[in-house]
Amino acid sequence: PSPPTIRLEGRHYPIDEWTNLPSHISSALPRKLHLQPSHPLSITRRLIESRFPEPAYQYHNDLSPIVTVHQNFDSLGFPIDHPGRSRTDTYYINKDTVLRTHTSAHQADTFRTGKSDGFLISADVYRRDAIDRSHYPVFHQMEGARMWSRGECEAKGGVAAVIREEMDRMPKHGIDEPLRVRWVEAYFPFTSPSWELEVYWQGNWLELLGCGVVQQSLPKNAGVPDKIGWAFGVGLERVAMLLFGIPDIRLFWSLDKRFLQQFKEGRISRFVPFSKYPPCYKDIAFWLPSSSNSTNAAAAGGAGRVPFHENDMMEIVRNVAGDLAEDVKLIDEFTHPKTGRKSLCFRINYRSLERTLTNDEVNSLQQMVKNVLVEEFGAEVRE
Ligand code: PHE
Repeated sequence: PSPPTIRLEGRHYPIDEWTNLPSHISSALPRKLHLQPSHPLSITRRLIESRFPEPAYQYHNDLSPIVTVHQNFDSLGFPIDHPGRSRTDTYYINKDTVLRTHTSAHQADTFRTGKSDGFLISADVYRRDAIDRSHYPVFHQMEGARMWSRGECEAKGGVAAVIREEMDRMPKHGIDEPLRVRWVEAYFPFTSPSWELEVYWQGNWLELLGCGVVQQSLPKNAGVPDKIGWAFGVGLERVAMLLFGIPDIRLFWSLDKRFLQQFKEGRISRFVPFSKYPPCYKDIAFWLPSSSNSTNAAAAGGAGRVPFHENDMMEIVRNVAGDLAEDVKLIDEFTHPKTGRKSLCFRINYRSLERTLTNDEVNSLQQMVKNVLVEEFGAEVRE
């Protein structure tokens, strides 16, 4: 018998014990929101592209999201035990193939084969992550990169000055009040030094972009060892939320005309909320089986029961409730002093952006979440 496969973008991929790709994720692959001309993500992409013009920057907007572990991690020098590699954080198609977690997955290839010194890559990226108004397991990034000769860098006051100057072109204004932004030093396995630009939004500092000087191995492998390379990766949703005043990341996926018809190619306009529907908070508390008493990220391959991770809860809720889940928070964590068993309590906020949910509907979603916890994770629900 032929081994089981999964079909994505018209190709069959063998699956194995690393596979963790749920249907609510694979169904997002064909959407390509950054290429829909009057979608706010495409408008945002075009605006940033206009600030980093061709031919100095060459644009790539339809690279496949299916990449090798080598492209996504190894080519960038991610250590073997980096938490980003774990199945709790990354969607694996099989042990060698993932959905890219960032557009940096294409850096090495593009530096090597690119026809110009600079490029912009816009694409959908995939990460297992929290559920709230600024996090969604599929989002869009734009990678920008360029190589400079040492002379060019020195003339401009060094590579850090070049980066600051280039990053000043990035749109970072809000539609409402002037935004508070700040630069912070950061760490990425593939750049040094590295920085992040953060913006204050709805009471929290959010990462807008990361950037830094790329490892010398990249220009070297591209056959230009004397050049210096720098790169940035910006979250298109984050920029679009500021530019258009979009308050919830799920809206980008809406097929509701009241959302889509508000936007026109080439125009930044304020998002007009169509209505605010009531939230519905539901708590769920459960005991974990004694063998899975950790919520730490663990690079967990192979068979056997793996520790329950907070992102597992996020996946269950997204798979059951889709975009009806607005946020999910761990509100209590408790280890029984005698048995050592662990109990978790999550608060789920169900709210549709498009209509009022009925009690029955929410109760049945909540019941399905409980069923998955019991059947697939061996949890014992505490009533
Ligand atoms: N790929 C990084 C991320 O997703 C962002 C980044 C891109 C950082 C390029 C530095 C240089 O967080």
